Amino acid sequence: MSRFLGLVLFLLNVADLCNGGVTSSFVRKVEKTIDMPLDSDVFEVPPGYNAPQQVHITQGDDVGMGVIVSWVTMEEPGSNTLLYWIANTKLIRKARAKITTYKFYNYTSGYIHHCTINDLEPDTKYYYEVGLGHSPRTFWFVTPPAVGPDVPYTFGLIGDLGQSYDSNVTLTHYEQNPTKGKTVLFVGDLSYADQYPDHDNRRWDTWGRFVERSAAYQPWIWTAGNHEIDFVPEIGETKPFKPYTHRYHTPYRRSNSTAPFWYSIKRASAYIIVLSSYSAYGKYTPQFKWLEKELPKVNRSETPWLIVLMHAPWYNSYNYHYMEGETMRVMYEPWFVQYKVDLVFAGHVHAYERSERVSNIAYNIVNGICSPISDQSAPVYITIGDGGNLEGLATNMTDPQPKYSAFREASFGHATLDIKNRTHAYYAWHRNQDGYAVEADRMWFSNRYWHQGEDSTT
Ligand SMILES: *[C@@H]1O[C@H](CO)[C@@H](O)[C@H](O)[C@H]1NC(C)=O
Ligand SMILES: *[C@@H]1O[C@H](CO)[C@@H](O)[C@H](O)[C@H]1NC(C)=O
Ligand SMILES: *[C@@H]1O[C@H](CO)[C@@H](O)[C@H](O)[C@H]1NC(C)=O
Ligand SMILES: *[C@@H]1O[C@H](CO)[C@@H](O)[C@H](O)[C@H]1NC(C)=O
Ligand SMILES: *[C@@H]1O[C@H](CO)[C@@H](O)[C@H](O)[C@H]1NC(C)=O
Ligand SMILES: *[C@@H]1O[C@H](CO)[C@@H](O)[C@H](O)[C@H]1NC(C)=O
Ligand SMILES: [Fe+2]
Repeated sequence: MSRFLGLVLFLLNVADLCNGGVTSSFVRKVEKTIDMPLDSDVFEVPPGYNAPQQVHITQGDDVGMGVIVSWVTMEEPGSNTLLYWIANTKLIRKARAKITTYKFYNYTSGYIHHCTINDLEPDTKYYYEVGLGHSPRTFWFVTPPAVGPDVPYTFGLIGDLGQSYDSNVTLTHYEQNPTKGKTVLFVGDLSYADQYPDHDNRRWDTWGRFVERSAAYQPWIWTAGNHEIDFVPEIGETKPFKPYTHRYHTPYRRSNSTAPFWYSIKRASAYIIVLSSYSAYGKYTPQFKWLEKELPKVNRSETPWLIVLMHAPWYNSYNYHYMEGETMRVMYEPWFVQYKVDLVFAGHVHAYERSERVSNIAYNIVNGICSPISDQSAPVYITIGDGGNLEGLATNMTDPQPKYSAFREASFGHATLDIKNRTHAYYAWHRNQDGYAVEADRMWFSNRYWHQGEDSTT
């Protein structure tokens, strides 16, 4: 289809918006999604004896002045010392990592290092070096500006990435996007190692090496998905999340959470709450009690943008995982409306979807009021599970498109959220078939606390 015809269809579709949602008319060849073989370039082991690999960073404290650096050595534990310094300065500081290993059926992990660096300067470029004594490697990151209401900041959004050829295209598009994301909000389902016989954990290692080219240089904020559970009693693996929790740490204690699967961070002008679709969330559970205390703590004068990440979407209109998020929605949606959450990002469904601002919280068993209604205090729900994993695209959609669904398209891609100030954030979704700069869906979001106007495309 020519770009011109595409544009015409796009405009026709925009006209449709008033009557309900838009199902994109973008036409692609749906091809099988295939994992990159073990000997692919992106999985190469870095050269040198015991060289650190799978290097990745995440936020290490509540405000972004801490970083958790993680890496794996294969031959022996090696040094647990990390060196770090501010770019163009001579003062080198040291921090120490804790080392862990785990076994999974007949797999034994390498030596997994986790090192938290604290009390960093805001908005500053730091270098860090790991693998001392054997094969040192040096990386860098930039800390975010100090938390504040009008601090601009750009997030990338990726979900359900996996390690297929399409996953590699998604990551490349994120890296090459002229809108430069500074931190990835990752909505769960990392390696898909569990799709291999006995959950072949070597695929957790290849995934770590694959994403290092981004995750060693900017934090990825982790959400747990169903592919992190790795529960396989048939082979004696009965501890859920074993590989995930050994490999990917989160700063959950800093927000008084009692488990790594739900926690919050502040970063620039955003307050980000990460929830777990696969941990108990009913009344009286640890996650419920935590969230109940957490939401009233958010100070919108300090962090205007309230963003929630989870894996299973609440407002999904594909015939995949349909209504899987429903029980959690019933528990927490009234709070999301009460506390005016701006945006909710989820994955799980391997496609893209953006909702209207809707809520469905009036039902009380006897009143029969159980349909989503337009609600300007409600978040926009975005499904961004389109990272490109081996399970392929979710192409089968419910028909007709429900009113809560504003835009949907079954293509792989990623998104960026460019927060400008306390009132405005520019959001864009990019499909992998287009050039790096092309925006296939875009929106100016207005903040629910400071500027409860309609969101708009211009
Ligand atoms: C683990 O078991 C599988 C299947 O039995 C086998 O193919 C594989 O070589 C084993 N791996 C190790 C490290 O022993
Ligand atoms: C992955 O993408 C990078 C470019 O971003 C490319 O250099 C590399 O060859 C790709 N690898 C595979 C296996 O597709
Ligand atoms: C965590 O709980 C402690 C004790 O109740 C409290 O002093 C502290 O302020 C809490 N921290 C956060 C980030 O909520
Ligand atoms: C909220 O944040 C603002 C700006 O940082 C601060 O002045 C105010 O005291 C905070 N409010 C509360 C209740 O902590
Ligand atoms: C799409 O999903 C519906 C509902 O699950 C199912 O009945 C239908 O057969 C599916 N269509 C295709 C083409 O797979
Ligand atoms: C916030 O950003 C928007 C978009 O860039 C701009 O139009 C608006 O004037 C800004 N508001 C303030 C108070 O600077
Ligand atoms: Fe999933």
